[in-house]
Amino acid sequence: MTEPVTFDAIWEEKYASGHAQRYPWDVVVSFVFRHAPRDRPRQEVAILEVGCGTASNLWFAAREGFSVAGIDGSASAIDYAKKRFAEDRLEGDLRVGDFTKLDFPDNSFDCIIDRGALTCCGHSALKRALAEVRRVLKPGGHFFFNPYADSHSSARAGKPAGDGLIKDIDAGSLVGAGQIHFVGHQQLIELMATGWSLHQIQRLELTDMVAPEGSIHAEWRVIAQKTS
Ligand SMILES: C[S@@+](CC[C@H](N)C(=O)[O-])C[C@H]1O[C@@H](n2cnc3c(N)ncnc32)[C@H](O)[C@@H]1O
Repeated sequence: MTEPVTFDAIWEEKYASGHAQRYPWDVVVSFVFRHAPRDRPRQEVAILEVGCGTASNLWFAAREGFSVAGIDGSASAIDYAKKRFAEDRLEGDLRVGDFTKLDFPDNSFDCIIDRGALTCCGHSALKRALAEVRRVLKPGGHFFFNPYADSHSSARAGKPAGDGLIKDIDAGSLVGAGQIHFVGHQQLIELMATGWSLHQIQRLELTDMVAPEGSIHAEWRVIAQKTS
């Protein structure tokens, strides 16, 4: 069986039709302030986001003076991000590409952010992407990894599409999100077993009490440090 695509075209459709995230996620703001090195000027601290979308997280980091880079499969998202950076006179290395192949040298970044992006590809592609993240992260650098968890209601509301992916989700908070790989606890431990020191593994679960009653949103919030 052929491996499913690593980049779901639904993302390009969304961004081309005007979807844009403009402000950073609070969990990313906390990660950056907690884990960016403080022993150097911020312009010497390099931060990469894989699957950066319209780069709202990197926009925040660039405004704070960090040196930022981002990669996303959607040309429309990167176009939006580049225009926004230019309007605000911010610098950033923003590229269209696939996060399973990172075109950056080994040991380049102090921090790497995955905010809900690596979970968009199948298990084999996720393993390749994690190997790339580890390769381009400096020894001792920190990684925020944020896949959806298999206790999410949407994990049982779609069709299996091979390599651990679910697509055509028709219930829960991920309706319309395209293909998603929901990760279990044991799988998460295995994915991060080699070359990482795990500082945080949180499973965040939010249960809707009104509508749709009982629907669960579930995601992993992992902070890992690259061992040398
Ligand atoms: C849920 S959005 C998150 C965007 C951004 N991280 C944020 O926090 O606003 C997932 C992003 O991953 C990108 N993406 C999905 N698969 C990708 C791939 N194989 N390579 C690069 N980007 C990808 C999508 O285009 C989309 O922008």
